[in-house]
Amino acid sequence: MKTIIISGAGGLIGGEAAKFWHEKGYNIVGIDNDMRAYFFGKEASTGKNVDEHRKNLKNYQHFQTDIRDIALLVRIFKEYSGEIAGVIHTAAQPSHDWAAREPSTDFGVNAVGTLNMLEMTRLYAFDAPFIFTSTNKVYGDTPNSLPLVELETRWEIDKTHPYFEKGIDETMSLDNSKHSIFGASKVAADIMVQEYGKYFGMKTGVFRGGCLTGPTHCGTELHGFLAYLVHCAVAKKEYNIFGYKGKQVRDNIHSHDLINAFWCFFNDPKEGEAYNMGGSRHSNISMLEAIQKIESLLDCKMNYTMLNDPRIGDHIWYVSDVTKFQRDYPMWKYEYDCGRILEEMVANECEKQGNSGFKGYSFNAGRGKKDQGFAKPLPREQWLDRFPVVLASNDSYASFVATTLYSILENTESFVEFYILEDAITSRNKKKISESLGKFKNWSIEYIDVSKYAIERFPDIDNRSPVAFARYFIGDALPDKEKVLYLDCDIIFCGDIAELYNLDMDNYPIAALWEDFIEYANIKKNLYPEYKGGYFSFNTGVLLMDLNKIKTYTKTFVELTLRFQNLLKYSDQDVLNIVFDNNFKRLDYRYNFQIGNFNEFKKAYPNKAGEIMKNLFLVHWSGMEIKPWKQNRVLYGYLFWNVAAKTVFYKKIKSMRKKYIKKRTDKKGLYFLNRIPVIEKVRGEGFVSYKIFGITIAKITRQEYIWSDIYGYSDANMY
Ligand SMILES: NC(=O)c1ccc[n+]([C@@H]2O[C@H](COP(=O)([O-])OP(=O)(O)OC[C@H]3O[C@@H](n4cnc5c(N)ncnc54)[C@H](O)[C@@H]3O)[C@@H](O)[C@H]2O)c1
Repeated sequence: MKTIIISGAGGLIGGEAAKFWHEKGYNIVGIDNDMRAYFFGKEASTGKNVDEHRKNLKNYQHFQTDIRDIALLVRIFKEYSGEIAGVIHTAAQPSHDWAAREPSTDFGVNAVGTLNMLEMTRLYAFDAPFIFTSTNKVYGDTPNSLPLVELETRWEIDKTHPYFEKGIDETMSLDNSKHSIFGASKVAADIMVQEYGKYFGMKTGVFRGGCLTGPTHCGTELHGFLAYLVHCAVAKKEYNIFGYKGKQVRDNIHSHDLINAFWCFFNDPKEGEAYNMGGSRHSNISMLEAIQKIESLLDCKMNYTMLNDPRIGDHIWYVSDVTKFQRDYPMWKYEYDCGRILEEMVANECEKQGNSGFKGYSFNAGRGKKDQGFAKPLPREQWLDRFPVVLASNDSYASFVATTLYSILENTESFVEFYILEDAITSRNKKKISESLGKFKNWSIEYIDVSKYAIERFPDIDNRSPVAFARYFIGDALPDKEKVLYLDCDIIFCGDIAELYNLDMDNYPIAALWEDFIEYANIKKNLYPEYKGGYFSFNTGVLLMDLNKIKTYTKTFVELTLRFQNLLKYSDQDVLNIVFDNNFKRLDYRYNFQIGNFNEFKKAYPNKAGEIMKNLFLVHWSGMEIKPWKQNRVLYGYLFWNVAAKTVFYKKIKSMRKKYIKKRTDKKGLYFLNRIPVIEKVRGEGFVSYKIFGITIAKITRQEYIWSDIYGYSDANMY
């Protein structure tokens, strides 16, 4: 089996790399002796991260080995030689201050340990890409001699300097500066990694990190600035700021973004290339700004002391220019900025410490829409003719899965991989779905039990169907897919689904219909009662999703759902609207033409409605009641019945409708009234009166009249 060797597998970056490559199907060999506990004390131990790997990663083997011990490393590399597909070297002594306490330990781990890992790779896995986490401290304190200006909350570089726009690039000299003992040992390692590439021709990559952060960071005072700051804020502990008036600026990159950069390099490695890799202009923050942000997230004042002396070799302002990496790997993009990094950290730390102070995510919920524009079709040559489409259903909706799928296949020549996130669909119904699609060849179907994802995360919401939250878990359920189209089961296609799937999402996590013609009393109103700008939202019945991005939000979805469970009106649609407000691409109205709010849409956009109806792409009977299988007279109901009649569920759906109508009409007594010939039905403004000899005996609304059994059950009356 293809194997990745990861040193420092218990640490922040090594740990995330282990999970990431494991998910991609690799066997992981982790090397970590928990020396972090030796450096920074028990509270910084990474042992529990290793325990988690052992528990959760099926193909994970751990070696509690010191990377300074070459004899033990030989055993490991020998054992796996021939199957090593990559080496990710993250084990290190990572702190300036600690290094000065024991310079030879620091040098032993950082420089000699790196040489050992390189040499093992050269001898036992020459062709494997070797990824090394270096640091921006290799530039020593040279960045401090840049022309800096003091602003109210931060230091900034002078606007006229070439580094102003994008930050510090790789041309900055490593010479003639004070590095700190840590910086010097990292320089040695950094140069050696480059040398193994340049001299021996190995595929080695150096990533000079800014501040690396992420959910599993075990921050301590000496290392992990944001994590430790958040830890102190939540624990109400005093925090010491070392020098520069708290205005020192760091660029922060989330482990998710860094690991994605590693993945790009892994798939297209270079020989001995070094890259600056931090949050860049996209994600940087000063201490004071970070404190302000954390205070607002926790709604509290932090307790900190401003010390005059800075740490030796510490940077005043550092922002990485990542252009070189982006030039070599144009596909790589950031998912996180400082705001999101901090929100995630505060939420995690509160959970860890059992503190309920986190005030919720500061998404732009309820603030209305910033127009991101409509998703346009990709150039034709980029269209995929085989793609995944996801639906979610329990057993009672199985027949509508069949109708939606049938209509898709009737209108496309593309090969469609259907994934059904199911909750207990019977094997009989699964067979009937396949039978219904029997005449088509261009499809495959896989059922994925969604309850296992939902239930372990929603222990408290036990009375809701897991299907109601299925959209949260599509990323987990389909780890190998990048882009999927999600559809509700109350949709019938008239156009080619390939046109919808192959829209350009323009790097947004989702594309959805923005319902700017109707305001719902949804969760945003509860969250932002003072806002007067219109509580619009997007509809989640038709969603294009970039799963690499969506996956990073799973925890957030769950956190918000549990937090607002009593306010949620439209289940996950409410939550998705909070998370992706202002961060989605719009779908044209034709790609989610909803019957449930047709009147509002027609009123707002009469021409558009006319255009869509002339050339229908799909029809979506959104809403609880206005479904062709619940009523006789539903707009475009005949489209549904035309398809339903071609599936093996036809009889069942017809009897379903009969039952629904009977139930409703029975309630009002209309079932009988409709059948007495002498009763006259007189239409008024918005209501219908039932009269006998001119005397009104019942009055019902027009809607109730339409719903009622007035047209009988025959197919001829299907509207
Ligand atoms: N975190 C940051 O802000 C940051 C910034 C720039 C560069 N870096 C570099 O990135 C790399 C990873 O950083 P991190 O934040 O994941 O660090 P981390 O401390 O979380 O993880 C490093 C892991 O290496 C292990 N380790 C240390 N010495 C070892 C040894 N001799 N043998 C085996 N295992 C050993 C530790 O126990 C720890 O689990 C390091 O090389 C670090 O210098 C980190």
